[in-house]
Amino acid sequence: METTSPSKGIFDGASAEVREHVVELLARGYWMEIETVMSYLAASVNLDGVRAQEVKESLTGDIEEELGHARLFAARIKELYGVVPGSEGFAPEQSFLQPPEEQTDVVHVIRGVIKAETGAIEHYTRIVDETDQVDPVTQDMVIDILHDEQGHRRLFEGFLREYEREGLA
Ligand SMILES: [Fe+2]
Ligand SMILES: [Fe+2]
Repeated sequence: METTSPSKGIFDGASAEVREHVVELLARGYWMEIETVMSYLAASVNLDGVRAQEVKESLTGDIEEELGHARLFAARIKELYGVVPGSEGFAPEQSFLQPPEEQTDVVHVIRGVIKAETGAIEHYTRIVDETDQVDPVTQDMVIDILHDEQGHRRLFEGFLREYEREGLA
């Protein structure tokens, strides 16, 4: 009589290809988080002015959260038999979050943060979709991270609205 061993899901030998694909998606998320840490760290120090303080404080808190996300992505890559990439694999994408000409240009940073968070939300939504029924552990982890990014985006949309209402954006 033929016996089939119970499924190990994403850890099945037969799932190797899917697993590699999930690792690729996770690696992209990992780099997005690392670049966000760099951009937010720079902006949280560079910005000048009374109005910038709230944004600087918020970014300072976000740095820790984004680094925490990078750690989660790295750990999951490892669990799925992948290798966390080295620095030579890094290719910057956040041209919109480079330091502004004037360090009092808070709106430039706010718009850049919204763009970075939007990019993360799009990529993580894709991971949630693609891991559905395939890798619920990764899906669960990324849903939590996605929730954080939605919160970040919402907060900075609020900052932008204030500047827009005052005719400063
Ligand atoms: Fe993040
Ligand atoms: Fe974020």
